[in-house]
Amino acid sequence: MEETLGEIGQRIRVCKKCPLHESRTKPVPGEGNPFAKVMLVGQGPGRNEDETGRPFVGAAGVFLDRMLKAVGLKRRELWLTNVTRCLPPGGRLPRAPEIKTCAPFLLDEIRVLRPKIVCPLGNKALSLLLRKPSQIQRLRGTAIPMETHFLFPMLHPAAAIRNPALEEKVMEDFKNLKRFLDSDPVLKPPPGQESLF
Ligand code: URA
Repeated sequence: MEETLGEIGQRIRVCKKCPLHESRTKPVPGEGNPFAKVMLVGQGPGRNEDETGRPFVGAAGVFLDRMLKAVGLKRRELWLTNVTRCLPPGGRLPRAPEIKTCAPFLLDEIRVLRPKIVCPLGNKALSLLLRKPSQIQRLRGTAIPMETHFLFPMLHPAAAIRNPALEEKVMEDFKNLKRFLDSDPVLKPPPGQESLF
């Protein structure tokens, strides 16, 4: 039987696969609607997420809620998750081996949730999901068809906290996401497999 999102969350809560488990307070599994059509993928927990064990509850989360409200989306319609699940010591950025060790949790969440749209928020999430170094600034606003879902790259809400001049662009990305979702996009079958769809 296929694993549930709750079971993946439980594996994350007890994970000791990389040294970050020694310094974390709480690991941060994904959370939200288990039937969500849209998954938002952040970089990793900050201090508030580390304290609570929940994604997007700090300043970036407050800003995210503002953006969602502005376009008529609700947190409870979505699945919120991250590339890494533990806060590195001193709040430094996660290192490549830590990202590599943690990545299977995200891929498992995508496989089990089967969202229609996966939104990498920022370069780390985008590069992981496209399996090559990629720039959100180049790809934001485009829907990239993958095997099981569309990738819809967006600026990270925290970018607008660091640089308020980006707020308009972040808002634009959320408006475009809502428009894309409402268009009810359908993935085209790979050539030669049309009869399976
Ligand atoms: N909170 C998260 O859960 N993820 C981020 O990327 C930023 C803040």
